[in-house]
Amino acid sequence: MKKRIFSGIQPSGNLHLGNYLGAIKNWVKLQNEYDSIFCIVDLHAITIPQNPQELSQKTLEVAKLYLASGIDPEKSIVFIQSQVQEHAELMWLLNTITKNGDLMKMTQFKDKSKVIVLKKKLRGELVDRKVFSRKESLEYLLKEYLGTKTGLFNYPILMAADILLYDTNLVPVGEDQLQHVELTRKLGRKFNQEFGETFTIPEGFTQKESKRIMGLDDPTNKMSKSASSDYNRIDLLDSPETIERKVMKAVTDSGQGIEYSDNKPALKNLINIFSLVANKKPEEIVTQYENQGYKKLKEELAQAVVDYLRPIQEKYNQISDEEVKKILSDGAKRARKIAETKIKEVKKKMGMIV
Ligand code: TYM
Repeated sequence: MKKRIFSGIQPSGNLHLGNYLGAIKNWVKLQNEYDSIFCIVDLHAITIPQNPQELSQKTLEVAKLYLASGIDPEKSIVFIQSQVQEHAELMWLLNTITKNGDLMKMTQFKDKSKVIVLKKKLRGELVDRKVFSRKESLEYLLKEYLGTKTGLFNYPILMAADILLYDTNLVPVGEDQLQHVELTRKLGRKFNQEFGETFTIPEGFTQKESKRIMGLDDPTNKMSKSASSDYNRIDLLDSPETIERKVMKAVTDSGQGIEYSDNKPALKNLINIFSLVANKKPEEIVTQYENQGYKKLKEELAQAVVDYLRPIQEKYNQISDEEVKKILSDGAKRARKIAETKIKEVKKKMGMIV
C-alpha cells in the first residue's frame, strides 16, 4: 500500500510565492510517490471575517491554481473541505479530547487574538514606552481578545480532523503549520490510547530552503496572505509589471555586497527565492552577482520569477469554472468514501450507535 499525504490551503486572500514554494511545489512532486489528497479548506477560511461572494470565487481560484501548478486529478484527490461533512463531525469529536491549554499555546492563535501583546501589557512590559497608542491600552487589548471568535481558537482541531480522517502519513506544509501538525499527532495518540488504535500518526514535511519565505517588505516576518501591504508578497497571478515593481521595491540590507548570510536577512530571502525559481544553489547566485550590486540582482530575479510563474498563469487561464467544479465534485465523492468509513470507526469506538 502506498503511503498517504494530505494538505490544504485556505481560500482567503491571494495565493503567493510562499504558498507555492513552501507547499504546492512539494505536493506536485510527492503526488507521484504517495496516495495524495489536497483540500481547499474553506471551513478554515471563515474563521476570519469573510465576504461570501469572495469566498466562492477564491475557492475556485485556489482549486484552479492547484491544477495549473501540476496537481493531477487522475493521481490526486482534489476537493473542497465543506463538501465532506465528516471533517466538521470529526472536529466535534476531537474537541472533546482537546485541552484548552494546548490550544492556547498555538502561535497562530496568540498572534491573531493579540494575546501576546495582552500578556506583555499585564506583565508591565509595555510600560516604559513614553507614548501609548490606543491599540496598546488594556481596554483595547482585552476587547480584542474577548472578541476573538471561538472558530479561530478551535481552528487547529479542525486541521487535526482533516489530517486524521484520512490516515495520513505525511503532511507537506510550510514551517508555520508544523505546530498544528504536532498538535494533530498529540490528539491522534491521545485518541488511540483512550479508545484503541484508530488513527495513523502523521509527520510534518518541510524543505529547508522553502519552508519559510519571508515578506519582501519585512524579512523578519513570513510572506503572508494577510499582510497589510501588497508589497509583502508576490501573488501567483501577479502581472509581469507588478512582479517587477514588487521585487524592485523589496527592502535590502545596508551595504552593497552580495552575500548569503543571516546578517543580511532581506538579501538572504531574495537569494533564496532566486535559487528556488532558477533551480540553482544560493552560492551560485552569490557568485553570479557578487560584483554587480543589488539592482542587477533584483532586475534578474524579477525576470526569473516572471518566467517561473508564466506557465502556471497560462494554464490557470485555460481552466473553466465548469471544468474545475466537475473535478472538485468527483474529488469530494472519492474523499467521502474514505472519510465515511473512518468516522464510523471513530464513533463506534466512542460508544455511539452507528
Ligand atoms: P495557509 O492557507 O495559511 O497556507 C498554505 C500553505 O502555505 C504555507 N506557507 C508558507 N510556506 C513558506 N513560506 C511562507 N511564507 C508561507 N506562507 C504559507 C503554509 O505553511 C501552508 O502549508 N492551516 C493551514 C491549512 C490547513 C491544512 C490542513 C494544511 C488546513 N487543514 C491540513 C495541512 C493539512 C493554513 O492555514 O495554511
